[in-house]
Amino acid sequence: MKQAAIFDLDGVIVDTARFHYLAWKRLAAELGFQFTEAQNERLKGVSRMQSLEYLLDSGGLQNRFSQEEKEKMAARKNRWYGELIATLTEKDLLPGAERLLKELKAAGVAVVLGSASKNAPPILKSLGIQELFDAVVDGNMVQEAKPDPQVFTLGAELVGIPYEDCAVFEDSQAGIEAANRAVMYSIGVSRAGALQGCKEQIADLSLIGETSWYQKILLSSSEGDQSNV
Ligand code: BG6
Ligand code: MG
Repeated sequence: MKQAAIFDLDGVIVDTARFHYLAWKRLAAELGFQFTEAQNERLKGVSRMQSLEYLLDSGGLQNRFSQEEKEKMAARKNRWYGELIATLTEKDLLPGAERLLKELKAAGVAVVLGSASKNAPPILKSLGIQELFDAVVDGNMVQEAKPDPQVFTLGAELVGIPYEDCAVFEDSQAGIEAANRAVMYSIGVSRAGALQGCKEQIADLSLIGETSWYQKILLSSSEGDQSNV
């Protein structure tokens, strides 16, 4: 394998970004403030505890709670999130995701998960897509959270592909920054407005054919197959 495609999970492969938002919104309501989808953009891609800091910040409640209280709040949010993801089925896979993973695998591209989420393993299991990945990096395996590139660089190392031959698919600004810091090719996957600094952006993975990355990697690999026939 000469290339790798590294995928974020929440909001790229599966429609769980809205569950994170609903659970944080519930915590905000309990704490007495409203939390909007626009404010939630800042929480995408970052770790659970950093998300809590941003949430408290948006409610004007920064520096108000002890570490122990914050851990209890994050655990409560994670319980609500856990109830929401317990209902996940293949129907929650985002458009084009499963097809692209299979297509890449068939074309000999290493398929890697690079997720900040500690809940990634049960999510992959309930969707039945674990076997589509050559390597999985999740929030339990890294010390530094996005925008630090560790989640992606570790993924590249697990499949033995140089960073410059990796493309990263991300719906969060923190994740695009992490990919760029690793000098990987960053592809934004989002309908929620422009991601800054990505090389290309599509609304969802079903539109992958619009990217020059796809033209270069997949179309050239299938042309190569045909010329070998
Ligand atoms: C990322 C999400 O994938 O995982 C963030 O975009 C989330 O919103 C982070 O905070 C950590 O997730 P978890 O499941 O470990 O709380
Ligand atoms: Mg995401």
